[in-house]
Amino acid sequence: MNPSEHITLARYLSEKPLPDALRGVLESIAGACVSIAILIGKGGLAGVLGEAGRENVQGEAQKKLDVLSNDIMLAANAWGGRVAAMASEEMDWPRPVAPRGDYLLLFDPLDGSSNIDVNVSVGTIFSVLPAPRDADWSSDAAAEKAFLQPGTRQVAAGYAIYGPSTLLALTVGDGVAIFTLDRETDTFVLTRDRVRIPEETREFAINLSNQRHWDAPVRRYVAELLQGETGPRAKDFNMRWVASMVADVHRILTRGGIFLYPVDARNREKGGRLRLMYEANPMAMLIEQAGGAATTGYECILEVMPQRLHQRVSVILGARCEVDAAIACHG
Ligand code: F6P
Repeated sequence: MNPSEHITLARYLSEKPLPDALRGVLESIAGACVSIAILIGKGGLAGVLGEAGRENVQGEAQKKLDVLSNDIMLAANAWGGRVAAMASEEMDWPRPVAPRGDYLLLFDPLDGSSNIDVNVSVGTIFSVLPAPRDADWSSDAAAEKAFLQPGTRQVAAGYAIYGPSTLLALTVGDGVAIFTLDRETDTFVLTRDRVRIPEETREFAINLSNQRHWDAPVRRYVAELLQGETGPRAKDFNMRWVASMVADVHRILTRGGIFLYPVDARNREKGGRLRLMYEANPMAMLIEQAGGAATTGYECILEVMPQRLHQRVSVILGARCEVDAAIACHG
């Protein structure tokens, strides 16, 4: 991509056959990500590091930046009448916004937030679903029902990663584009289009400290990788684990590999560790749009029918051949 072509996010979106309302939603999300990037960049200078002193619906301690990023995403998408309701990792129930809006927005405002205080990359993950015409916003439970759609229904998904550069990875169901934040103009400029995950990989990402809790198929698969040249895969693998899903997925979109956060003995009752609707689904859409695959080990992530807004799921995603090898171990 030649940055001198200077294709801004607004121009990229204007050239896609998208409803104006969806363009508006995506531009508002991008605007919120710019504000979050600025806040994260200030870090300790703005007094935004550390704990907020309360827990989210998942029982996890919220960081100040989790709360601030959530507020920024909510504020950016509260106007315009395009978003019917929003749901977030940080809120127990969906927040109805404009009952006649066309879209539902789900997000994890600050993924990997345990990394904030150690100055390692974190990100914002988002997913856009169509709002059902007959949605009922009169109670929390009714509002939740409107969101319970499989990932195949997403009309757009993406993430912003706040690292050495701030990047925005986006799909509207027509490939994956990556934009870099130009800090002088606060605009996202296209720096990679039609991203493809390299087929050949020698890199995997999993939190190996959980090994003793894994089910047999994941143990089998990882054992094959660890045997390297002397094992059935006949090649050496390298391991990377940032513990920010955005950073691990971004590496896979850039240089290939596989990412696993499987259900295990400790999180089985919850269904896994990662959240289906605002972590696994948007990442699965991006990965599939870049030619990769995303599975629970037994079914495509995008086809999982959610039962609850904050449902968790087993996640295996990345280069298609490698994901197929992992699925084979589940056989
Ligand atoms: O959602 C949570 C998350 O922070 C992901 O971004 C990341 O992949 C994972 O948790 C890290 O989990 P662990 O701390 O168990 O390695």
